[in-house]
Amino acid sequence: MPFTIAIDGPAASGKGTIARALAQHFGFAHLDTGLLYRAVGAKGGDPVAAARGLAPGDLARDDLRSAAAGQAASRVAAIPEVRAALVDFQRRFAGGEPGAVLDGRDIGTVICPEARLKLYVTASDQIRARRRALELGADEAEMLRELRERDARDAARDVAPMRPAEDALLLDTSEMTIDEAVARAIDAARRAGA
Ligand code: DC
Repeated sequence: MPFTIAIDGPAASGKGTIARALAQHFGFAHLDTGLLYRAVGAKGGDPVAAARGLAPGDLARDDLRSAAAGQAASRVAAIPEVRAALVDFQRRFAGGEPGAVLDGRDIGTVICPEARLKLYVTASDQIRARRRALELGADEAEMLRELRERDARDAARDVAPMRPAEDALLLDTSEMTIDEAVARAIDAARRAGA
């Protein structure tokens, strides 16, 4: 059985960094599922057709990390048919040997409810805004507004809203360095049998 690690949480919580570090540590594959929604949003046109026709080249665009791409992703992610079109790809990825780490909003709840380890990574709004502002070279107050708007939409949608799975381990990274957060996650994965 492949070992699947599901990591969810709001924007700029540190989940991507933790997911990459876990994958590297255990020799697992890593899928940043937010990139799928960002690519769908960036393609323009009918989002459902964009999701059904998503190709690897769509994920390689260099404008997908921007705040605007994040907002577009959050909007198309509320469309049930868009989410449905991306499920099989994510589940196939999760089933790869020897294991996989997927990060997103609904991995522990919808995509991989049987994951061997589920983490829900959070940090305070202010700290997340500061991290994102540093990363993108953008204004902190503007990032705070943007993150809150996106989180509210992601948590309020009817289909696969952002929320911790009941059996998720909560990791608040507000007061942690990257190394501390990664060490906690590795420890949790070891205890789960990775
Ligand atoms: O993780 P991210 O910030 O790159 O995600 C961008 C948007 O995509 C996020 O605001 C909501 C959506 N998303 C989602 O609905 N489900 C996922 N599993 C991952 C991302």
